[in-house]
Amino acid sequence: MKYKNIISQYTQKWDSFYLYDESRILESTAHLKANFPHIHFIYSIKCNANAHVLRCIFQQGFGADAASLGEVLLAYKAGLSGNSIYYSAPGKSINDIEKSITKAILIADSIEEIKRIQTVAERLGMVVSIGIRINPDFSFAGEGGKPSKFGIDEKKAIEFIKSNPCKNIKITGIHIHIKSQELDANVLSAYYKRVFLLAKKVSQLCGSLDYINMGSGMGVAYAATDVPLDLYRIRLAIEQSLNEFRALYPAAKIIIEVGRYAVCKSGYYVTKVMDRKESYGKTYLILKNTLNGFLRPSLAKLVAQYSDKEASFGTEPLFTSVDAFSFLSFKKETNLEKVSLVGNLCTAADVIAEDILMPRLECGDVVMITNAGSYGAVLSPFQFSAQQRPVELFLTQNGEIIEA
Ligand SMILES: Cc1ncc(COP(=O)(O)O)c(C=O)c1O
Repeated sequence: MKYKNIISQYTQKWDSFYLYDESRILESTAHLKANFPHIHFIYSIKCNANAHVLRCIFQQGFGADAASLGEVLLAYKAGLSGNSIYYSAPGKSINDIEKSITKAILIADSIEEIKRIQTVAERLGMVVSIGIRINPDFSFAGEGGKPSKFGIDEKKAIEFIKSNPCKNIKITGIHIHIKSQELDANVLSAYYKRVFLLAKKVSQLCGSLDYINMGSGMGVAYAATDVPLDLYRIRLAIEQSLNEFRALYPAAKIIIEVGRYAVCKSGYYVTKVMDRKESYGKTYLILKNTLNGFLRPSLAKLVAQYSDKEASFGTEPLFTSVDAFSFLSFKKETNLEKVSLVGNLCTAADVIAEDILMPRLECGDVVMITNAGSYGAVLSPFQFSAQQRPVELFLTQNGEIIEA
């Protein structure tokens, strides 16, 4: 395995860590850009805010999808200018608005929020161009909108745009995002085509828009049985709609935001066997920092435990599927044993795998978990039980390791 030497070296120093491989991030970002040369990509910081990851992705020409004032400031600190940072999140406070108004493009999530931005803009004597997040009259399944805490329902958004009573606000962009982790190119293409139709409708009202952010949705193959998303198929399917829109509105920037697609596969979570024991015929391997180091695998077990076993269901980005992660070892033993992988916390919920086959592992041996580049470190409750938190290592494309 490519990372064997690095992992062996760093497990002498640390009992648990994330390893992010820059070359894998460069591969996925290049794949996106090659397939969609006329689309501008922005990176959803929320899925992995590691400073080296941010630098790597922004150097590829990606802007930022910031979901908090903190993320706006991270993107700004990483060197992006305010017109490449799109700040879209529900429930922004006056303080959030004041501190970000000159550092990002604000995307209002409600009519109340537009009024709050108006209040701040008026006080500062500014006229601000903002975007609005629209909850559209369609879903990934087809026509018909659904209730959502995100954005402004399409009809209300259109009515507001027609009358816009806020003198210090210009609406110059729209943002739509309704679902993550889609692997079916046909479904995603149909969604993008609907977004173009909506964008046309809004553009006719506003003259032209500066940007249309079509949101995310691009999934990654987590489980061994998942078929990776076919970007080329999407490219062909949306080509005509995209070209027609660009011909009508050449100045409008068309944006797709991606989080996991850029980074998920670049990351491994590495942990060590701290203890092993037999109990009433079951073998437990006790690993360092599982639930509290990389939350998602144990959350997947919890969701499975509480739901119908045939169809576990949860909400992204907390839960993808019960089999979204693989547990790897460097040992190539043919004699496999059945083990349960659990963590070193004082809760029985700290379980990441039950009765799986692994080579026989002893204390000090390493277990690697796949798909840890997105929603790994950022989602994990490091403070729980005052344990030492896992470090994050960044493997540059030149083979250098940076510790962060
Ligand atoms: C508005 C919005 N955009 C983008 C993303 C990133 O999603 P993904 O990591 O699936 O690309 C999310 C995820 O929660 C989101 O809520």
